Amino acid sequence: MKIIIGNWKMNGTNEFAVKFINEINKIETKNCVVICPPTGLIPIFKDFRYQVGAQNCFYKNNGAFTGETSPALLKDLGCSYVLIGHSERRNIFGEKDELLYKKWESAIANNLKPVVCIGERAEEKSRWKEVLKKQLDLYLGKDISTTIFAYEPVWSIGTGIIPSVDEIFEVYTFIKSVINNPQILYGGSVNSKNYQQILQYTDGLLIGGASLKIEEFSVIMNG
Ligand code: PGA
Repeated sequence: MKIIIGNWKMNGTNEFAVKFINEINKIETKNCVVICPPTGLIPIFKDFRYQVGAQNCFYKNNGAFTGETSPALLKDLGCSYVLIGHSERRNIFGEKDELLYKKWESAIANNLKPVVCIGERAEEKSRWKEVLKKQLDLYLGKDISTTIFAYEPVWSIGTGIIPSVDEIFEVYTFIKSVINNPQILYGGSVNSKNYQQILQYTDGLLIGGASLKIEEFSVIMNG
């Protein structure tokens, strides 16, 4: 069984979500399928036959934190997964490893499965091991039995450029050497043409753009 996660980012409407759910509900797969829609669309997924995740959360469950969403509320709305530290959170919103670690702790405390995203930027390519090691450091020695890690090279996200399968396997092996028995997904420009070769070397996929194309996602979710 592979884990196939679709990250809609800040895309999708009420109407699209209803259509997507109707179509995807007709498909049967052994894989674990998770859709992470924008927060406002989460309640529409109550009749979705697969799992629902959030794209982000805060680390407190209530209080004066305008604009944030608590892990407890996400759980209450039916989420079972949450992305932590997607590169857009890190690079556009300046989220740092220490903050992400608090979100990770809080997600677990609220029975959400965290999907911790890691990956090097284009200018960090030559020292990717150091970058990934630093992003993983806070989780070493911790109970990561319900945590999923997603390797997403930032230079591959939304660009159509993907590492070779050998490179993906090298990173996969490196992460496994750093942290004990993790589940590792790959993300970055995955589509219906390249997903099969990548899936051979990973525990699953994190899909952005292609998760908004119903036909394309239907193919990928079957693994
Ligand atoms: P992409 O995005 O599939 O559109 O490259 C992946 C991601 O950001 O998770």
